[in-house]
Amino acid sequence: MSEAIDIESGDPVVDRYLGESYERVRGMSSRFAAAICGHLMRRQTMVGTIGDVVEIGTFEGRFFIAMALGLSPGERAIGIDRFDWPDEKIETRFLANCAAHGVATERFVSWKADSREVTPAMLRERLAGDAVRFAHIDSHHARECLTNDLELVHAVLHPDGIICLDDMLHPGYPMLAAAAFDYLARHPEMRLLCIIDREDIVAAPKFLICREAVRVLYERDLLATFSRFHYMLDADMEGYYAVVLTPHPRLAEVC
Ligand SMILES: C[S@@+](CC[C@H](N)C(=O)[O-])C[C@H]1O[C@@H](n2cnc3c(N)ncnc32)[C@H](O)[C@@H]1O
Repeated sequence: MSEAIDIESGDPVVDRYLGESYERVRGMSSRFAAAICGHLMRRQTMVGTIGDVVEIGTFEGRFFIAMALGLSPGERAIGIDRFDWPDEKIETRFLANCAAHGVATERFVSWKADSREVTPAMLRERLAGDAVRFAHIDSHHARECLTNDLELVHAVLHPDGIICLDDMLHPGYPMLAAAAFDYLARHPEMRLLCIIDREDIVAAPKFLICREAVRVLYERDLLATFSRFHYMLDADMEGYYAVVLTPHPRLAEVC
């Protein structure tokens, strides 16, 4: 097993989970990405951005628990999953993992549904507040499903909210990125804030998306906090650059 990456979110409750339990909860998202997302949620709390979190595709709760532990009082975590793969007991394991890792039942909603049948109005009804400040989309890895999920969370996103997309640029799902770029074209106020690079092929890159109005604020914070993971060339978005954070930054040696 490779050496654990030395990264923390800065939230002690989230960091205890990331350090002691994260990799024992079955799942696919990297601890590197969860720490960066946990940090962004902590920053939102510090500047008064209040809202719920949503994950579409919770599986057994690995990433969901990290997000739920970062919530402030009065906020809620909504976990949407079909809960039918790889077997029908998956929701039971998800609920047991939430309980085992300190996510109290009143702090979250386990919602067994196909996201393509969920409307923004249905989602709004389950929120504790008016908006979602952090959303993680990690459901069916197909362009039409990601397009649906993006529009669903976009409809309830806090003005300063962040959407995190899993498995972007994964060699097995090249067309997922097309859904992300089509979404950015449909919503010109939205920008790619950051690409969180892979730890491994089973813990692949994530995109972080937010509104242009808050992009530079988040960008400055990411660069100040995670400078040692910064790939200095960043991501060329043809008009602006998105931050790239990678576990082992380096450039090709050319001479
Ligand atoms: C890759 S797993 C999620 C991993 C998890 N987010 C993590 O980081 O460990 C994908 C999940 O999406 C769920 N899923 C697939 N299509 C879905 C849909 N249309 N609506 C809701 N959930 C879906 C699957 O049941 C599965 O649990």
